[in-house]
Amino acid sequence: MRRRIIAGNWKMNKTVSETRDFVNGLKPLAADAECEVVLCVPFTDVAIAAETAKGTNIHVGAQNVAWAESGAFTGEISASMLKDVGAEFVIIGHSERRAMFGDTDATVNKRLKTALGAGLKPIVCIGETLDEREGGKTEEVLARQVKGFAEGLTKEDMEKVVVAYEPVWAIGTGKTATTEVAVETVKFVRSVLAELFGEVANGVRIQYGGSMNGNNATALMASGDIDGGLIGGASLKPEEFIKVIKA
Ligand code: 13P
Repeated sequence: MRRRIIAGNWKMNKTVSETRDFVNGLKPLAADAECEVVLCVPFTDVAIAAETAKGTNIHVGAQNVAWAESGAFTGEISASMLKDVGAEFVIIGHSERRAMFGDTDATVNKRLKTALGAGLKPIVCIGETLDEREGGKTEEVLARQVKGFAEGLTKEDMEKVVVAYEPVWAIGTGKTATTEVAVETVKFVRSVLAELFGEVANGVRIQYGGSMNGNNATALMASGDIDGGLIGGASLKPEEFIKVIKA
């Protein structure tokens, strides 16, 4: 049985005091949540989020991690630094990192291995662009991304990974994938995982992300094939985020 996981990806939003207020606001609302609740916050907010969420069912994560453990990597943050300030999860390979900051299947794979080695729980993002979908390349692109991040992983590693399927054309656009498209694509992703990892694929949690909110979450997850969501815009206010968690 795969436990559902709803993760907020705040992207580049919120100061330390805004983070404290958000977590204090979410705590009572999320106290009886049935799914796993995660907040992936900017690096500068990880410590305060973890401290404020201590003793609750709210888990905290970051949005990227260096592949190296330490050294001359200006601007990067290591897995041990993240753990040190209370991060439990980390998003790796978000399409915004791939499109704007040079992440590739190879760097995503390196970051993922480092995160796993350090005991961080990775949420690895994959997804096709609009051009790729319209050009009939969705499966080819997703298979390449899955094989790319999974290169060299053991079955035991894969059991610890959460995959987020985020069609790039649905991110921040208000244009959610239809339930049919999301379910069909997530099933395809699981079939690629099954090719690589056999039975383990059935236990891997695969989220959907892209304009998911309190109104569309129930329909997206009704079939049982989608194991939660990675939420951008709708994760920035406790009263909006809780609607997705409850859905
Ligand atoms: P939106 O929910 O704002 O579309 O963002 C999705 C996303 O990119 C989460 O990682």
